[in-house]
Amino acid sequence: MSDRGLELARTKMTEAGVAPAAVETFSRFYRLLESGESGLVREADVEPLEDLPRHADLHVPAADATDALARTAIIKLNGGLGTSMGMDRAKSLLTVRRTDAGQDLSFLDVIVRQVQAARAATGARLPLVLMNSFRTQDDSLAALAKHDGVAVDGLPLDFLQNREPKLRADDLEPVEWPADPSLEWCPPGHGDLYPALHASGLVQALLDAGFRYASVSNSDNLGAAPDAEIAAWFAASGAPYAAEMCLKTPADVKGGQLVVRRSDGRIVQRETAQTHPDDLDAALDPTVHRYFHTNNLWFDLEALAAELDRTGGVLELPLIRNDKTVDPTDPSSPEVVQIESAMGAAVAVFEGATAIEVGRERFLPVKKTSDLLLMRSDVYELTGDYRLVARASAPLVELSGTYKTISRFDERFAAGAPSLRGASSLTVDGDWSFGAGVRVVGEGVLSDAGEPATVPDGATVGPSGVATS
Ligand code: UTP
Repeated sequence: MSDRGLELARTKMTEAGVAPAAVETFSRFYRLLESGESGLVREADVEPLEDLPRHADLHVPAADATDALARTAIIKLNGGLGTSMGMDRAKSLLTVRRTDAGQDLSFLDVIVRQVQAARAATGARLPLVLMNSFRTQDDSLAALAKHDGVAVDGLPLDFLQNREPKLRADDLEPVEWPADPSLEWCPPGHGDLYPALHASGLVQALLDAGFRYASVSNSDNLGAAPDAEIAAWFAASGAPYAAEMCLKTPADVKGGQLVVRRSDGRIVQRETAQTHPDDLDAALDPTVHRYFHTNNLWFDLEALAAELDRTGGVLELPLIRNDKTVDPTDPSSPEVVQIESAMGAAVAVFEGATAIEVGRERFLPVKKTSDLLLMRSDVYELTGDYRLVARASAPLVELSGTYKTISRFDERFAAGAPSLRGASSLTVDGDWSFGAGVRVVGEGVLSDAGEPATVPDGATVGPSGVATS
């Protein structure tokens, strides 16, 4: 490790035309990485977030809801590359549902239709803007172009986030990968929202067009549909920033959480990496810290514009170190470190930031292929306004490493997802391909057959494996 790594990275970024604010943001993080700085947030210095207002309890007059949504823009984070599923493209272009008419819908198709349904129901203009990265932009804009009337009032359909070099894990120098030099770069996590927004001028453009609020969420979370009641609650709160939080269940051992800093009463985000080992039990205890963060956020665009102007888009967010391989589709390629930050960590920057408790229906993230299997299954139903509504409690799905990448997963579920409505869990070991019309009941288990095996068409999978019917 040396200054050489940082110098090489800065030169590489500058030569590639990366914006100076992004080079500075990267450099700050690089120094934090080198110093081993962990940004620990100790349990003794914080209090849990408690007694949040509940989405389910809001009684918003219809006129207020319509008025607030009419002043809201929808921003979707779409710059990530789905590397956890072995992808290097936008996850939102994967098929997530097939309609009754047999049409395949991607996440992006569903998002567009959710927005169009909300427009039709409320008369809101509701602009939809994607935050894309260099690898997601072309494909995503081409996919949007297939829909009529997405753009409103001449506002852009997307803005572009920055890119930074992946660093070799051994010496933190920019990695070289002549086989595909584009893989030497990565997007810097969704904390890049702020520098990217600053560079784009989008916030001012939205204000000029008469919008006041932004509802920001992950494009892989179809639960975060436009919501007029939350918009009205947020507008009435007068807060600059709000986070949507869900109550934890015993199955939720998620690390990232919001806590209240005792020293100044501000809400701050604490990632697992920022949790001291001695505090881990308390941090993960759902009776102490009752909520987790959905990454669905609301911004007052005036407050956001002021903050971006004040900081030049360089918000002092905590560093997240992400260990990956240079080619995400090849686990044997060289190990790299990616410097990232989280959008939600900006909560500490906004004085008067607040939070609201929302139901699980607003948190349907797809991080792994097992999440995608659930979304594609009959556990969820696509409503007329394109929301995915759970019709049964979601079973715990665990797939073996064979299914980790999307290509292998798709090969094995080529005939569609099995019925999971009657399942309490599905555990697949080894390598099984699923035929058409398979049903899983109770605790479905498929043990490793030692070689590739097939669940035949129409079979039932239960606690003792496959039972043909
Ligand atoms: P994740 O944290 O799940 O990351 O992103 P990801 O990139 O999609 O997946 P992995 O970690 O590579 O497997 C949450 C949301 O934030 C967006 C993603 O597109 C997703 O909607 N995101 C993430 C960005 O917009 N930019 C980024 O740099 C990273």
